[in-house]
Amino acid sequence: MDIKYLSAREVNEKLDMKSCIGIMKDVFMAFADEKIENKLRSVLPIDHGKLLGIMPAVLPYRETAGAKLITVFHDNFKIGLPSHQGIVAVFSTEDGQLQGICDGSAITAIRTGAVSALATDFMANKDARTMCLIGGGVQADMHLKAITLVRDIDTVTIWCPTLAESTAFCEKHRAEYPAITFVPCENCADAVKDADIICTVTPSSTPVLMGEWVKEGAHINAVGACAAAAREIDSACVVKAKLVCDNYVSCKNEAGDYLFPLKEGLITEEHILADLARVVSGKAVIRTDVKDITMFESQGLACEDVACASWLVNQ
Ligand SMILES: NC(=O)c1ccc[n+]([C@@H]2O[C@H](COP(=O)([O-])OP(=O)(O)OC[C@H]3O[C@@H](n4cnc5c(N)ncnc54)[C@H](O)[C@@H]3O)[C@@H](O)[C@H]2O)c1
Repeated sequence: MDIKYLSAREVNEKLDMKSCIGIMKDVFMAFADEKIENKLRSVLPIDHGKLLGIMPAVLPYRETAGAKLITVFHDNFKIGLPSHQGIVAVFSTEDGQLQGICDGSAITAIRTGAVSALATDFMANKDARTMCLIGGGVQADMHLKAITLVRDIDTVTIWCPTLAESTAFCEKHRAEYPAITFVPCENCADAVKDADIICTVTPSSTPVLMGEWVKEGAHINAVGACAAAAREIDSACVVKAKLVCDNYVSCKNEAGDYLFPLKEGLITEEHILADLARVVSGKAVIRTDVKDITMFESQGLACEDVACASWLVNQ
């Protein structure tokens, strides 16, 4: 049997960010109609925080079933490798045939930025111009690419653990985005204080974003912390934010950003106002005032990966 395989290079060439935002919109619209089976990720520990994740989903609206198999090695940036590496395999729901296999690192990178852009488009103020990135790795690159497709960003501030990394990020992107002013910041509070949109994209397990720094009207995409014991956002920030999750099951099992303030008794389960499916399908409107602080809690879902792979193998 000839198996169609799309390498990281091919995924990056074919799956442009704009198309991916559209594919993610379709996924969440289908989710709103309960047309998706999405399994909570199984995580097997390997060693010292390194993980193997298995993420299956069935997408009847695409006649596809599939799964992502992925390793997560957070320290890989030190050796020049992506933190997420793996494959996404997709099968026909008509006859069970394997339709193809795609590189999972590239799909993870692109779809995560795309989902945040989708949430931002529905939740951020329309005139948001300033974006803060906390973290300067793969997801910072992807969030720059994705968010600039849904808002007219004119200023990007960035904070990384070292000023050298923040400066290198700015230098890497200035030529591609000549209309944007890039500001590397030594202090995270300075990076955050004027931001209309804040994206936390670090593997930190302790808060990197404090509520006291966040201005009225800001929208937050909380992306990096994907385990119950890890969080990037402090409790004060979550308390004052209108919270949307990508999926209730994932959020209640995996989102330390939500679980810590819940355990501390600072919020209740009702603090999650909606999942992204309800927001995208228009069943829930989150921002009702320009001063609202909104927050999208992203865990990453199997259905996002399977939808991308299905789209790619059917091109
Ligand atoms: N929600 C999702 O769907 C999803 C998808 C992919 C990745 N992620 C998560 O997003 C995070 C970032 O992924 P990436 O691929 O950009 O990783 P990466 O390794 O490419 O970049 C990580 C960045 O965070 C910085 N960093 C490392 N430790 C830090 C700390 N303790 N405090 C502050 N900054 C720190 C690094 O300097 C680097 O700039 C990871 O935790 C990853 O698991 C989430």
